[in-house]
Amino acid sequence: MCRPTYFDVTYSINPWMDPGRPTSAQAALAQWKRLHDTFVELGHEVRLIEPVPGLPDMVFAANGAIVAGGKVLVARFRHRQRADEAAAYLDWFGRGGWSEVRQAEHVNEGEGDFLCVGGEILAGSGFRSDLRAHDEVREFFGRPVVSLTLVDPSFYHLDTALAVLGDGEIMYYPAAFSPESRAVLRERFPGAILADEADAAVFGLNALSDGRNVVLPQRAAGLAARLRERGFTPVGVDLAELLKSGGNAKCCTLELRG
Ligand code: ARG
Repeated sequence: MCRPTYFDVTYSINPWMDPGRPTSAQAALAQWKRLHDTFVELGHEVRLIEPVPGLPDMVFAANGAIVAGGKVLVARFRHRQRADEAAAYLDWFGRGGWSEVRQAEHVNEGEGDFLCVGGEILAGSGFRSDLRAHDEVREFFGRPVVSLTLVDPSFYHLDTALAVLGDGEIMYYPAAFSPESRAVLRERFPGAILADEADAAVFGLNALSDGRNVVLPQRAAGLAARLRERGFTPVGVDLAELLKSGGNAKCCTLELRG
């Protein structure tokens, strides 16, 4: 995770971002701290990367890399405003502990667009990550990659429209995907929880699961109820300040696997 010390909305690269609307780095920090403490209370180890002045979106650590099986593919951002974040992640992962670290060749916004489920990787494209990045990820990690096309600019990263709950279990917002991708998801995940528009609009899919507890925006009441029915424990968090930049719980969190 990355503290939102320099959080602000100074440019707009998604429909949620309005530089004319006031933001508060202090409110962002308090909300982020609650998310951080929630993970710690749930028994997870949290590591921090130092925020860099001039990179207000760095709080969205999910975009920094993909980490699986101890290998790290560092992001290559679509927009110049975020491009320099990659160097910070290369440096952080370069300090050791990983079997291989390199930067992606094609535009690749890390766990924003690439989500591990079972032994596979679900990959989003349409707004940020390049389709060629899907092939690069397949080769680098040696895992099957399932390409999905996003069609609604408000759900511009895969992790704004789909969340992995456990092995082979997901929840998603169908309208964010192309008809072909919807068919792929239906076939592969017939038992998935389908989010409605109200839950998707409060970023309810921007959630993290440890297989039992699901940390998600507390306003996503419908999804919380569905999760409870399935035996999960929903844990609500309020990240309204960060939503002004088009991010929420999952965006703030890069999972370090293996
Ligand atoms: N303002 C950031 C951007 O547009 C938000 C990133 C959200 N991250 C995510 N994993 N969906 O890039």
